[in-house]
Amino acid sequence: MEPKPVQPPKGKLGVLLVGLSGAVSTTFVAGVQAVRKGKAKPIGSLTQMGHIRLGKRTEHRSPLIKDFVPLAELKDLVFGGWDIRDGDLYSSSRTAGVLEQRHLDMVRRELEAIRPMKAVFDQQYVKRLSGTHVKHGKNKYDLALKLQEDIRTFRKKNNLDRVVMIWCGSTETYIRPSGVHQSIGKLEEAMKKNHKDIPPSMLYAYAAISEGVPFANGAPNLTVDIPALTDMAREKDAPIAGKDFKTGQTMVKTVVAPMLKARMLGLHGWFSSNILGNQDGAVLDDPGSFKTKEKSKLSVLEFILQPELYPDLYKDFYHLVRINYYPPRGDNKEGWDNIDIFGWLGYPMQIKIDFLCRDSILAAPIVLDLALFLDLAKRAGLYGIQEWLSFYFKSPMVGPGLYPEHDLFIQLMKLKNNLRYIMSEELITHLGVEYYE
Ligand SMILES: NC(=O)c1ccc[n+]([C@@H]2O[C@H](COP(=O)([O-])OP(=O)(O)OC[C@H]3O[C@@H](n4cnc5c(N)ncnc54)[C@H](O)[C@@H]3O)[C@@H](O)[C@H]2O)c1
Repeated sequence: MEPKPVQPPKGKLGVLLVGLSGAVSTTFVAGVQAVRKGKAKPIGSLTQMGHIRLGKRTEHRSPLIKDFVPLAELKDLVFGGWDIRDGDLYSSSRTAGVLEQRHLDMVRRELEAIRPMKAVFDQQYVKRLSGTHVKHGKNKYDLALKLQEDIRTFRKKNNLDRVVMIWCGSTETYIRPSGVHQSIGKLEEAMKKNHKDIPPSMLYAYAAISEGVPFANGAPNLTVDIPALTDMAREKDAPIAGKDFKTGQTMVKTVVAPMLKARMLGLHGWFSSNILGNQDGAVLDDPGSFKTKEKSKLSVLEFILQPELYPDLYKDFYHLVRINYYPPRGDNKEGWDNIDIFGWLGYPMQIKIDFLCRDSILAAPIVLDLALFLDLAKRAGLYGIQEWLSFYFKSPMVGPGLYPEHDLFIQLMKLKNNLRYIMSEELITHLGVEYYE
């Protein structure tokens, strides 16, 4: 398949965040503003700091990714979004408690200028939160139309050329795919009947896609991962990606598990435990929201280790994931992994990992990369599921009949080859025979 010509990133790019006042969103917006002013570096962002090798190793061509593909520049980003709490982004950033006062002081004026629009929210789907800054409508369909209207107003008011939307909202309670998710007609009919299988996140995704706006899902909710919306995304020329930002423990897991498999080391058990004290931790303390997160965190090992192909190594390994809400730690999560492995002749060994991370510090650069890459995808004529963005997700969305690729470095190779493909550069296979002919 020949790549289509990429349209240049002229004008302004609007970045709409659902959950604008939350820890991830505020850390992202404040960080971009600080970088824009030259007061901080965009550490953790592949689009800003990553290089890409082109051609043979002997050619020594490794430009920055942002010099190779035509990405929107940080100065051209305009931020907006929705939340269930009103208040400017400076005060929300202080409440989130992620960034230090010295960083917030640098960008105070810019943050004070941003306020969330009224949200579409229903406590039935996020039991631990309640909010007053919410929209009212006749039914769910009517609420989705109001969100569409918000997108249009945001675009017009800020004189934007393009818009992307990213769900950085709370994790909703677990919903199984059902009949109402199978086609756009069924979904719209069910929205009008206020069907219980349609949570607010689906309404945001519906509104974005119907406007041709690229959409990424940073939480493990079903949201856009249903046939009705993946089909609609292709029809409406909207790139989509999800689910659940891959930031801390799962990022580490998708590096260590491929290592075990590469060396044919066996696994008896993997116990992942977390303590987390931010609002996300409080939301995940509800069993319904935790189930959604647990499903997402548990799936990776099965896919990477392929027990059906390697029964001697991976049949019946025990995998347990726990998240404990522990307020004293705030956003500074601690993730422990105890990994019981075995080697030659079955002799047991253990690996212990203790990652003292900062949740939103790891997530913010992912939001930036997704905004810029989804915008690139749209300008490159790539619509529907963007599998090359799997790199950023715990439960990557894939087309029907495909299994997701979880290995972080295969995902990175896929992403970079996709960039080479978009720019009609030779793909890199790492074969290497050409150097020895
Ligand atoms: N930080 C990470 O490392 C990480 C990794 C993977 C996934 N996530 C997910 O990202 C999301 C955001 O995380 P966070 O730490 O910023 O949480 P947070 O609780 O600080 O922020 C979430 C925000 O979403 C808002 N919200 C909830 N429902 C909404 C709705 N229907 N419409 C508009 N706003 C709504 C809340 O009011 C809150 O301000 C969570 O779902 C979390 O599970 C985070």
